[in-house]
Amino acid sequence: MSYKVPFVNYPEHYRRIWDEVIGAIKEVLTRGDLILRDQLKQFEQNIASYIGVKHAIGLNSGTDALFLSLKAAGIKSGDEVITVAHTFIATISVIVHCGATPVLVDVGEDMNMDVEQVERGISSRTKAIIPVDLNGRLCHMEKLMTIADKHDLIVIEDAAQALGATFDGKKAGSFGLTGCFSFYPAKILGSAGDAGLLTTNDDKIAEKVRLLRDHGQERSTGEYLFYGFNSRLDNLQAAILDVKLKHVPEWNERRRQLAGLYDEGFSDLSELKLPPQPESNGRFFDVYQNYVVRSKKRDKLVAHLRKSGVEILVSWPKPLHRHKALGLGNFHLPKTEQISKEVLSLPMYPELRNEQVEFVIESIHDFYKSMP
Ligand SMILES: Cc1ncc(COP(=O)(O)O)c(C=O)c1O
Repeated sequence: MSYKVPFVNYPEHYRRIWDEVIGAIKEVLTRGDLILRDQLKQFEQNIASYIGVKHAIGLNSGTDALFLSLKAAGIKSGDEVITVAHTFIATISVIVHCGATPVLVDVGEDMNMDVEQVERGISSRTKAIIPVDLNGRLCHMEKLMTIADKHDLIVIEDAAQALGATFDGKKAGSFGLTGCFSFYPAKILGSAGDAGLLTTNDDKIAEKVRLLRDHGQERSTGEYLFYGFNSRLDNLQAAILDVKLKHVPEWNERRRQLAGLYDEGFSDLSELKLPPQPESNGRFFDVYQNYVVRSKKRDKLVAHLRKSGVEILVSWPKPLHRHKALGLGNFHLPKTEQISKEVLSLPMYPELRNEQVEFVIESIHDFYKSMP
């Protein structure tokens, strides 16, 4: 079905930056520069300076950024890592793949880790915390870093959805031992396929991750220093991402503008719970990777919107700790359960037109008017 308001619009996205992207692709192919070449180094430097960190290391996915963070930090069997269930599966699966045990804490009204609950999850085996900056909003990083410092825990930021978001003026990915970004196509900065990035201010971690992504081989000597992985970011993807990085500030501004239109359009609908509203103290600068609302009548509302021509995503209708095969059933996470029943993501991307947003707003008003 073709939607009046699709959830993503890749053709329009690329149409607007066509010449720049094709120019970058041509240059890479003309030179035959495909693996670990200049475009990758250039992109890594540019994004490190955008985020405000010493090192940025291109990887093949956000999942690998999380996995290699834990590996580089030495997380292993017997260790515990605290995170949330209201997230993409990769945040948890990487902990399991390191042989460690995920300890899940509940989320708060902002859908991010409820920082007040973290201390209850800490044991003598806890080594790390992975906060997730869901939907383009950071966790309360001041409180989180204070707890981590107090208990001598490392923080791996899952900033997959938060490129450009800030807390107290500091960007996502610049607080923890590492920051992990995804460049999945629908992300704020999307590649033409899969890609990811790890940020850090720690020289040793940076060195370790550069080796881990390339089979543990020191290229200058040919020596294998340990068993590694193949998780390099393709030079071609890096060249495309470097072109697109320049647009991120303007794209994030547009996302914030669109969120403002949605906020205003729904201000009279008490049945709909909106994303956290901008605060007067301005501690949070949100970039709206997703515009997620909550409704007690979620499933009916989703069906109505899809029928009206609005494409909707529901992340995640069944909380991860309720998937039997994952073995996470021992956690009691009432807020996560409640949120999973209520959330729906509305279309949100810079190419979305104001009249499309108005159409979504009208469709939602129509739904509530038709409800008894
Ligand atoms: C919160 C979160 N963590 C991790 C990931 C994993 O990133 P990738 O799909 O690039 O492996 C994603 C992306 O989907 C995500 O949204």
